Amino acid sequence: MKGSRRDLLKYGALAAPLAAVGCIPSRPEVRLLPSLAPLPIPFGAPLRRLSVARPIHADAGTDIYDFTVRASEARILPGLTTPIWGYDGIFPGPTIEARCGRSVSLRLRNQLPVPIVNHLHGGRTPPEHDGYPTDLILPAGGFPTHDHDSQARVSTGEREYSYPNDQRAATLWYHDHRMDFTAASVWRGLAGFYILRDADRDRLPLPQGDREIALMICDRSFEADGAFRYPLRDPLFREPPSMTDAYMGGVLGDVILVNGTPWPRLEVDAARYRFRILNASNARRYELALDPVPRGGFPFVQIGSDGGLLAAPVPQRSIRIAPAERFDVVVDFSQFKIGSSVRLVNRAGSGSAGQVMRFDVTRNTRDDSFIPARLSDIPDAADGHNLQFRDFDFSFSRLTHEWLINGKPFDPMRMDARPKLNSSEIWRIQSDFSHPVHLHLVHFRILNHGGRPGVFDSGWKDTIDLAPGEGASILVRFEGYRGRYVLHCHNLEHEDMRMMANFEVV
Ligand code: C2O
Ligand code: CU
Repeated sequence: MKGSRRDLLKYGALAAPLAAVGCIPSRPEVRLLPSLAPLPIPFGAPLRRLSVARPIHADAGTDIYDFTVRASEARILPGLTTPIWGYDGIFPGPTIEARCGRSVSLRLRNQLPVPIVNHLHGGRTPPEHDGYPTDLILPAGGFPTHDHDSQARVSTGEREYSYPNDQRAATLWYHDHRMDFTAASVWRGLAGFYILRDADRDRLPLPQGDREIALMICDRSFEADGAFRYPLRDPLFREPPSMTDAYMGGVLGDVILVNGTPWPRLEVDAARYRFRILNASNARRYELALDPVPRGGFPFVQIGSDGGLLAAPVPQRSIRIAPAERFDVVVDFSQFKIGSSVRLVNRAGSGSAGQVMRFDVTRNTRDDSFIPARLSDIPDAADGHNLQFRDFDFSFSRLTHEWLINGKPFDPMRMDARPKLNSSEIWRIQSDFSHPVHLHLVHFRILNHGGRPGVFDSGWKDTIDLAPGEGASILVRFEGYRGRYVLHCHNLEHEDMRMMANFEVV
């Protein structure tokens, strides 16, 4: 199953002399890939409203969608076109609006020249629909693959995914998950929102309608002709992994896109807005803040996280968001003067990556929304006696130049953990470097995160970001389905370098 690039001898031979002259760092850091196209002027274009997918059919319990995944073009930079890969030919992909208790059936037709896999991130999905990395949808004309996985469910041309939506309302997203090539495929455009709602949540007096906006934030770089720039190892997407060795620590772009537009602007009323923020970047972390800072210093009221509404609102000075995480926040623009502009900035970024978007506060208005003191029911995270513990160590191997979990690269044929259905376990995660760790199928509570839970750790999570050298404990409830799933680092370059492991719910 090892690609030639992963051949230990080859790496050994390559790494030793280069390391000696200092070309290969002991642990590859995230690395900026600068654009060759001139960067657009920030706040020059309005924020686009994402297009909402229309079901082709709806019956008593299911909404049926049919997407063609194809190459197409987008207008992202002024005067240039960007070839993309898109669900229904658009980037971001169409937003799927789903209801708890009503299932979604999603047929994907693959018209790309490469295999695809679709994963509903945050979904409690049966294993055969979860988008296991080797469960490929091959192009209709076939494709040479070398994944050795006897359990792989490979289809040709198309496949139907079924999402039961038997879980809490939350902001989910879907994206490509092809073994070894997720990073380059998502970078080309294969990601979209999946908003799961329930009737209860709709009755809360939170901002809604035009004042509830999903924001997909991701960084990209551009070639001089407007194409997405990515350090591809193989332009045909055959030789794994996605990226060249120099970028195995993670690719950073210098253009920040929100819903596919560079540094957009949005006119807002002097009222409360609810933003469902997703970091869909491959490797970039953001610390989002408002500039100017409103009086009192707390521009955001966090109301939700990966797994839906929190028990109670949490005022935040800034929002630290790692790849794949979601934050549901309310911003009250009545704290700012009419006619003023408020920038959403990224304190974790420098230069062009320090800006995200701008809000222009245009008019006074009536606002009947408010944030209730109690948002949802979340049981206290029980303490862990009598629970099974498991340890997962995320580290870089200087020997093989791979990202490893418990000393091993991902192998679909090896089972790494077998938790029991309807049991809870405590998973202890240790990290050598920054790794946003994601588990499929489950949601978890954070018991300890570099000591105790941090200010961003409330509620149900499916992704936890570890700082270099940090340890965490999470309480995981295995509910829903038996079968094989993955956990992995959601720095997509690390993921493609096999920082992934299997668990089977038994
Ligand atoms: Cu967002 Cu395994 O994925
Ligand atoms: Cu990682």
